[in-house]
Amino acid sequence: MIDWQPLIEAALSARERAYAPYSKYQVGAALLGREGTVFTGANVENRIYGLTLCAERSALVAAVSAGVTRFDALVIATDSAPPAAPCGQCRDSLAEFAIELPILLINTSGEQSARELADLLPEPFRLGGKLPGDLL
Ligand code: THU
Repeated sequence: MIDWQPLIEAALSARERAYAPYSKYQVGAALLGREGTVFTGANVENRIYGLTLCAERSALVAAVSAGVTRFDALVIATDSAPPAAPCGQCRDSLAEFAIELPILLINTSGEQSARELADLLPEPFRLGGKLPGDLL
């Protein structure tokens, strides 16, 4: 059973640390590693827009850099109504490490929407529970 509350709080506070002076759209993410560590991320923008790093990939990079590559849950916090789902690049980046990842989309008004990464991926990316690396 996933204890969502600490992840929700972590995603909301990570969102406060977003660097988003261009879009003014702040996103926070909290990714639960299988060993129990929570990795947070926020979007970090750049004047060269393509260099912008999304919150989800920011959390993923923090986790993988720390040696954690198996995940049990992800919370994504925005101020969108309804709560926003991850972008395509983040879906693909997460799918490299977890296909059946429970995702909770939340917003600053307290709305929540539960998803699973597999359901956010296009058909060819659903690898029958296998990770891309398993197919190499
Ligand atoms: N953003 C995220 O952090 N995650 C997403 O899934 C979608 C978009 C960020 C990128 C950019 O800083 C801002 O939101 C507007 O697109």
